[in-house]
Amino acid sequence: MKARHLSTFFIFFFGALGGLLFGFDTGIISGASPLIESNFNLGTEQTGFIVSSVLIGSSVGALSIGSLSDRFGRKHLLVLASILFLIGSGLSMFAQGFVSMVIARIILGFAVGSASALTPAYLAELADAPHRGSLGTMFQLMITLGILLAYVSNLGFLHHNLLGLRDWRWMLGSALIPALMLFVGSIILPESPRYLVEKGRIDEARDVLHELRAKTDEDPDKELAGIQEVANQPKGGLKELFTFARPAVIVAILLMLLQQLVGINSVIYFLPQVFIKGFGFPESNAIWISVGIGIVNFLCTILAYNIMDRFNRRTILLFGSIVMALSIGILSILNFTLKVQDAAVPTMILIGIYIFGFAVSWGPICWLMIGEIFPLNVRGVGTSIGSAANWIGNFIVSQFFLELLHMFNNNVGGPFAVFTFFAIVSIFFVIYMVPETRGKTLEQIEMDMRKNAALKSAAQNK
Ligand code: BGC
Repeated sequence: MKARHLSTFFIFFFGALGGLLFGFDTGIISGASPLIESNFNLGTEQTGFIVSSVLIGSSVGALSIGSLSDRFGRKHLLVLASILFLIGSGLSMFAQGFVSMVIARIILGFAVGSASALTPAYLAELADAPHRGSLGTMFQLMITLGILLAYVSNLGFLHHNLLGLRDWRWMLGSALIPALMLFVGSIILPESPRYLVEKGRIDEARDVLHELRAKTDEDPDKELAGIQEVANQPKGGLKELFTFARPAVIVAILLMLLQQLVGINSVIYFLPQVFIKGFGFPESNAIWISVGIGIVNFLCTILAYNIMDRFNRRTILLFGSIVMALSIGILSILNFTLKVQDAAVPTMILIGIYIFGFAVSWGPICWLMIGEIFPLNVRGVGTSIGSAANWIGNFIVSQFFLELLHMFNNNVGGPFAVFTFFAIVSIFFVIYMVPETRGKTLEQIEMDMRKNAALKSAAQNK
């Protein structure tokens, strides 16, 4: 399909829509799980498994999709992911018990994981270098919008058993709408021009590039020549991941693990419970706390979208790490020193600052960078590895957070001291290991990596 007649906004909006489902499907369960628990008479462990089954499915989905996307193209697999989203959302809406719910959530996880590995590479490969930061941030913008919509849907459907279907069925089923939009969108979307060049389909790639760059100052023919040069480099296949692209693999895995280990999902998934258990807030406030977090998170990501092409990625990451380390470091100290009731308001403010720090930096940039730093030949597999690391990190934090909280007698200072440690580690990681990608084409990034590896091996052979 040619990109003709499709506006750039349409392409990037629908291209990033997988993010909305990612956010929605991970966010919705916080409100739906207590309702499912009581409806199916489940134990806490079973409910916990329903919550984490998405994360298990995502890790597997993310890992398996990459090599397929290098073979069959980003677009076709986005279509496949959207079909999985439709099936998973439908099945979870009509699940009849624990087992069918777990199966539905694993299928959904598979779709979420696939989308999270496909979308960053797809967006990076479509964007022009000067705008790649903001266009890549569309993915995180969609994730945060998805989370917010999930919270709003929880709020809207709670206690409304419409048409004889229980509230939680509507909550889970509302994901069918964005899934359908992604399905239609991904059929219309153009294939990535870089994938097309890699497969020798030069004329199609030229068409897509001309259409995409029609309203920019970029020269599509020059860009095409650059992509062809890279595509003509000797190919090492998967071995590249262990040779000149090894630094990219290490950076991707650490970026993604740290993105989770700074603890963002303790806030996104569990904060209401923290306030109820730790500060004695009434249960009825839980959903409002969630909506508040969702709004702050989304608004700060809009800010990120606006600044992403103006500052170096490394500068923004460093800023985010420092803001997070300070805010949750102070939060932790206050919760160990103040009386519980005095700590509640400062904790809330500091969590707001922490979300700001994450949302303008590590939230968008990690997803952006895993689409940028891998060589064309193995970009699909590379983003898969990065994405899977993210889901595994997410699983670890989600499994241990409540236990950690319990270990510290419901004092949030405990788990947040652990997250502060990782936020400090992230400062050093950015300073010493993260490369700068702003303003360079994907081809320049790849050529720099090849040159560095050649220089290094020449120095070793001396
Ligand atoms: C993370 C998610 C998180 C979300 C919060 C994403 O970048 O990967 O795990 O829930 O940001 O906005």
